[in-house]
Amino acid sequence: MLRGILNFAHHLLEDSVMDGDIVIDATCGNGNDTLFLSELVGENGSVLAFDIQSQAIAATKEALLNNEQDNVSLIHDSHENIIDYLPDTMNKKIGGAIFNLGYLPKSDKSIITNGYSTIIAMDTILSFLKKNGLIVIVVYHGHEGGKHEKDALLKHVIHLDQKKFSVLQYGFINQKNNPPFILAIQKKI
Ligand SMILES: C[S@@+](CC[C@H](N)C(=O)[O-])C[C@H]1O[C@@H](n2cnc3c(N)ncnc32)[C@H](O)[C@@H]1O
Repeated sequence: MLRGILNFAHHLLEDSVMDGDIVIDATCGNGNDTLFLSELVGENGSVLAFDIQSQAIAATKEALLNNEQDNVSLIHDSHENIIDYLPDTMNKKIGGAIFNLGYLPKSDKSIITNGYSTIIAMDTILSFLKKNGLIVIVVYHGHEGGKHEKDALLKHVIHLDQKKFSVLQYGFINQKNNPPFILAIQKKI
């Protein structure tokens, strides 16, 4: 069976992230991906989880209540400032990252990710990824402002040096209403 978007996003990370890795949830929202990453890297790993909304940080904290791992740092800041949270010691140590673009479900639809800050965060993480590390971006673009971000991102990733990065696009092209798709970028060197 072809995997659905969220299932495939997690599958890609399961295949590349290792126990003990440092990983990033760039848009923690309700905490689903943060919880997934926390379990994936285990007690020796760590997760940096970002969101600009205090509501999302609280929701993620709640989602982690029964989590057996104590390996998540919740950061109430824009991922645009991610460099401030990555000491030099983490250079070439990040195993993976996920972005879920768009707005927090059942919340203020005007608070959305945007191409400018998403690209800054993505490029920063790319420079900190270890060899074979992977960034998975789930691109929701049906909302107002979504097309702008999608176009900016595609324009950017299409030009990443193929000697250094593999860039994959995965999505269902016969679905109606602007279905989400995945961009996955793996560092080759
Ligand atoms: C689609 S939701 C994420 C869903 C989440 N991954 C989950 O599992 O529930 C997108 C989130 O990105 C957040 N966001 C928007 N701009 C951001 C930024 N510049 N930095 C960090 N988070 C941002 C929103 O507040 C929202 O919570």
